[in-house]
Amino acid sequence: MGDPARRTVRYTSVAVALHWLIGLAILAMLAMGLAMVHLKLAPVDKFKLYQLHKSIGISILILAVFRLGWRLVHRPPSHPADMPRWESGAADGTHVLLYALMIGMPLVGWAMVSVSPFNLPTVLFGVIPWPHLSFLTALGSKPVLEPVFKLIHAYGAYVLIGFITLHVGAALRHYFIQHDTILQRMIPGLPRFERRPTARTDP
Ligand code: HEM
Repeated sequence: MGDPARRTVRYTSVAVALHWLIGLAILAMLAMGLAMVHLKLAPVDKFKLYQLHKSIGISILILAVFRLGWRLVHRPPSHPADMPRWESGAADGTHVLLYALMIGMPLVGWAMVSVSPFNLPTVLFGVIPWPHLSFLTALGSKPVLEPVFKLIHAYGAYVLIGFITLHVGAALRHYFIQHDTILQRMIPGLPRFERRPTARTDP
């Protein structure tokens, strides 16, 4: 807990910007990943989508590593003093898992393309060549490893969708039901939620 007088009360602007940038990019990646794997697309569109998916995914990896470093040196605001222990534990646990997935998903995607028998190059946004993970490429077990990474990447996406739903649900509960200021810490300037006055029934 520490000295209450020294508690951080808000996120830094960098933390807020990274939260929304990475959050929106991940939502786009989930939609794009599901579309490119499950929709019937023309091969040329599919190839373009894969390249975009890999480009945004690697950008997320770089931003997420920076974000983790930023968080380690900039203490986030503490939970409200009256928050039940189960709730602060659930919030902390969800945040740790979201960080793990934010970094783990792109790493597994990178590993997957590094062992793909197609050996297609990754060129970020059509400009920056991005290497394969050479220690994986050097292994002679691509046909075994590729489906394993594919499976982890696909199931990871569904776990990520689950935790994002939990995270967004909790944020909305704070705003619309508990009427506290947790959501305002990530959306500075958001007005407090006002409960509509109930119609008076007395004469
Ligand atoms: C936060 C980052 C990422 C998210 C949320 C994400 C999400 C997804 C999703 C939802 C799918 C569809 C899975 C399925 O239903 O089978 C997918 C597929 C794929 N992802 Fe990602 N991805 C991320 C990063 C990356 C990165 C960095 C790469 C490569 C550098 C990558 C390469 C691929 C490939 C090649 C597929 C197609 C797999 C197949 O053909 O079955 N992804 N991704």
